[in-house]
Amino acid sequence: MKKALVCGAGGFIGGHLVNRLKSEGYWVRGVDVKGNEYDNNNADEFIIGDLRNPEVADEVITSDLDEIYQLAADMGGAGFVFTGTNDAAIMHNSVLCNLNVLEAAKNKGVKRIFYSSSACMYPEHNQMDPNNPKCSEDSAYPANPDSEYGWEKLFSERLFLAYQKNHGIEARIARFHNIFGPMGTWEGGREKAPAAVCRKVAMAEDGGSIEIWGDGKQTRSFLIVDECVEGIRRLMSSDFSGPVNIGSEEMISLNDFAKMVINISGKNLSIDNIPGPLGVRGRNSDNHLIQEKLGWSPTTPLRKGVEKTFTWITEQIQKKELEPVAA
Ligand code: NAD
Ligand code: GDD
Repeated sequence: MKKALVCGAGGFIGGHLVNRLKSEGYWVRGVDVKGNEYDNNNADEFIIGDLRNPEVADEVITSDLDEIYQLAADMGGAGFVFTGTNDAAIMHNSVLCNLNVLEAAKNKGVKRIFYSSSACMYPEHNQMDPNNPKCSEDSAYPANPDSEYGWEKLFSERLFLAYQKNHGIEARIARFHNIFGPMGTWEGGREKAPAAVCRKVAMAEDGGSIEIWGDGKQTRSFLIVDECVEGIRRLMSSDFSGPVNIGSEEMISLNDFAKMVINISGKNLSIDNIPGPLGVRGRNSDNHLIQEKLGWSPTTPLRKGVEKTFTWITEQIQKKELEPVAA
């Protein structure tokens, strides 16, 4: 039986990944600073620990592991990563996790390690035209990410590749493009646009309005988490190191995305475009390389993933409304 460690197992993608590995017959250890609030975790062993501490990395990374999945990071949507107020924490916390996990993996002789990078590492100058962004893997350099979060991801990609070159660890690196789905953060300030818009629409009175940051003409592509996990597993089982995009090529403007969610809800709502943290003007996954190297790329239509996510977020809101108010 293969043994895997999932770092960041208390989080959104990490929780889904644990369940996927279990369904494939793996023995799985999870580690995170927090438990998974949606019970989205069937790990055989779950350790609450802070990977910024090298002793924790040394404890959870044991020589019997076949694979490590490093997803632990200080992470959030535009309201968290593009305001500038969290830059030092994001860089400090995420780099420490990566350094400690890699060093312990080297010392324990763990052979294969997955790293979750981000589309935020692509240069800002290639993402100014909302209708024609360029995010092919070979466009990463000369580097010019628009956020410190993106610079940290770029540095850490290089860190994983350096451990591969110098210490023989097999690195597998994916650049995720805005992953969404059930059990993702949907409130509190770290939520990304798909969850934020689903929440706003679900909470709005029929006939009312919802707020969308920016002019709504900025574009993104959003990938349902099941496809992301499929991509992680395929990359990890392949001979290809990456970095490679794991994302959807179904690009949409934010206002059109809001209209899709409104349509799914069956409500009659208008859109107010208001100032807010924006990030790049346009972004879309380029799936040529993943198709070439893995013979696979995501195919689930955006609307299908959004229907599932809207239903789940509506249920979360209803559950919260039923919770007793603390005295
Ligand atoms: P998430 O915030 O739900 O999961 C990250 C987990 O890491 C959290 O549970 C958090 O508690 C944990 N963590 C943070 N600091 C830690 C520490 N010091 N020690 C132990 N655990 C720690 O986010 P997610 O969406 O599941 O993202 C997973 C990974 O994928 C992250 O590296 C993120 O940067 C990357 N990524 C995600 C997206 C996306 O759209 N979701 C896009 C690009 C990249
Ligand atoms: N979060 C959020 N909430 N975004 C909104 C909202 C809202 O209510 N309304 C409009 N937006 C707009 C943002 O201004 C931004 O232009 C766009 O929707 C997308 O925002 P996010 O989904 O929050 O982030 P992102 O796509 O810019 O970046 C995310 O994806 C990256 C990978 O592709 C972040 O989560 C990054 O951390 C991640 O690496």
